[in-house]
Amino acid sequence: MSQHIEIERKGAVQIIRMNRPDKKNAITREMYAAMAAALTTADNDPQVRVHLILGVPGAFSSGNDLADFMAVATGGDGGMEVYDFLLALAKSQKPIVSGVDGIAVGIGTTINLHCDLTIATPRTEFRTPFVDLGLVPEAGSSLLAPAVLGRQQAFALLGLGEGFSADRAKAAGLIYEVVSEQKLEAAALEAAERIAEKPPEALKIARDLMLGDREALVARIKEEGAHFRARLKSDEARNAFVAFMNRKKN
Ligand code: COA
Repeated sequence: MSQHIEIERKGAVQIIRMNRPDKKNAITREMYAAMAAALTTADNDPQVRVHLILGVPGAFSSGNDLADFMAVATGGDGGMEVYDFLLALAKSQKPIVSGVDGIAVGIGTTINLHCDLTIATPRTEFRTPFVDLGLVPEAGSSLLAPAVLGRQQAFALLGLGEGFSADRAKAAGLIYEVVSEQKLEAAALEAAERIAEKPPEALKIARDLMLGDREALVARIKEEGAHFRARLKSDEARNAFVAFMNRKKN
């Protein structure tokens, strides 16, 4: 398991917390593995009815750890952990709620496309600089974002890498609600508890109907993944990672 992922149960809610504040919750392979295990294990546990994904104050996640990206760019294999996590998200049998405060970059944004309810704070900004990093959209976002946001807003998010404030994200349909930082965790837990109180069988059928064909989503995650792995080794991506690493030295 990972020291940077905390798993907690509150009644029928499983809380998955990313807790690596010194790196703004950049997600490592170990963290993906721990979150994938938490999702799949609880999916088979009738005591758990809802997953709640949280970060830390000011940082939901700064996205994939760029050092891990750099390792692939320079010849490493990158492992399957992120893929296991994405499949666990896409195939989740239980509803997923997220509470987002502050930084939500890359997969820190696209996780929320798999959530049934996302609550964010006024200081949250969603941003996916995939193309700027020489990469391509991941986590099924090339399929989910146009469906959720419409083609134009999806292009602004995924193609142009524009930031989406909490208000813009709410207006675009990316999130459910905006509450103050102080109220975020209580509001997210309350939303999860409201879901947990519903008749689980009826809710599962309703959710499955709304999600539609998840095999198409899984196929898109694989298709994106093949491009993504190839792009990680491209000059465009390598140069962008080096620029970020060098930025730290200045
Ligand atoms: N991977 C690895 N480390 C990261 C990281 C990431 N994705 N994002 C932030 N960090 C690290 C920084 O290197 C820094 O580490 P250090 O203190 O050891 O130097 C620490 O987290 C704090 O980041 P910093 O940049 O100082 O904070 P900030 O508030 O000024 O900016 C971000 C926050 C998220 C805007 C900025 O760090 C950033 O752009 N990160 C890269 C995001 C990204 O491109 N993710 C991949 C998307 S596909």
